[in-house]
Amino acid sequence: MNIIMIGTGYVGLVTGTCFAEFGHHITCVDELTDKIDQLNAGRIPIYEPGLDTLVAKNREEGRLQFTTDIAGAVAGADAVFLAVGTPTSRRGDGYADLTYIYEASKELALHLQGYTVIVDKSTVPVGTARQVARRIKEVNPEADFDVASNPEFLREGAAISDFMRPDRVVIGVESERAEQVLRDIYKPLYLQETPLSVPR
Ligand SMILES: NC(=O)c1ccc[n+]([C@@H]2O[C@H](COP(=O)([O-])OP(=O)(O)OC[C@H]3O[C@@H](n4cnc5c(N)ncnc54)[C@H](O)[C@@H]3O)[C@@H](O)[C@H]2O)c1
Repeated sequence: MNIIMIGTGYVGLVTGTCFAEFGHHITCVDELTDKIDQLNAGRIPIYEPGLDTLVAKNREEGRLQFTTDIAGAVAGADAVFLAVGTPTSRRGDGYADLTYIYEASKELALHLQGYTVIVDKSTVPVGTARQVARRIKEVNPEADFDVASNPEFLREGAAISDFMRPDRVVIGVESERAEQVLRDIYKPLYLQETPLSVPR
């Protein structure tokens, strides 16, 4: 499958690399040119045991690329994962600041082509998927998409093994079509009998 990660931080880079290792074609997008230049030069901006080897292997095998060009990446994607930061709000009320999520949603909206599943991978409060869908529709009323949720529980320092051998994978979907896309993405884990939890 053709998958885009928007946000190439800890979660985006580990998830994108592990999806490439599953056999998918991954484009990791970030707005930080320095970070993308580093990755394209073969340097890994975070320390995570084993990640450098997996990135190099999947780049060599043509399944993993890094870019700042969101437009070129999103067109033709089966799924676009939002893995941008959700820092605690500066208001001091304990809520997450969803500015990056909403900005990325609006940026990607214009470039959607064909049916695409937008997946919240970032840690976000209940109701965010609806807000993401609203923003995409505002920018591109013709877009054919679903928004799904797939929270990440990896721990820094053990991120690759946490991702490759999770207790379970949790997905939240409102359509069977979106569920099927996520099932196809996670099929390699399913084949090793990882439960896929789809709360209704
Ligand atoms: N780091 C962890 O251990 C961990 C574990 C589980 C869940 N999470 C959650 O996952 C999410 C991402 O966390 P992280 O640690 O990877 O964050 P991070 O800050 O390391 O990376 C986020 C990246 O998104 C990029 N970005 C922001 N807006 C963008 C845009 N519009 N277009 C392209 N790129 C954009 C930033 O430049 C940055 O590189 C957060 O919601 C976090 O709470 C993190």
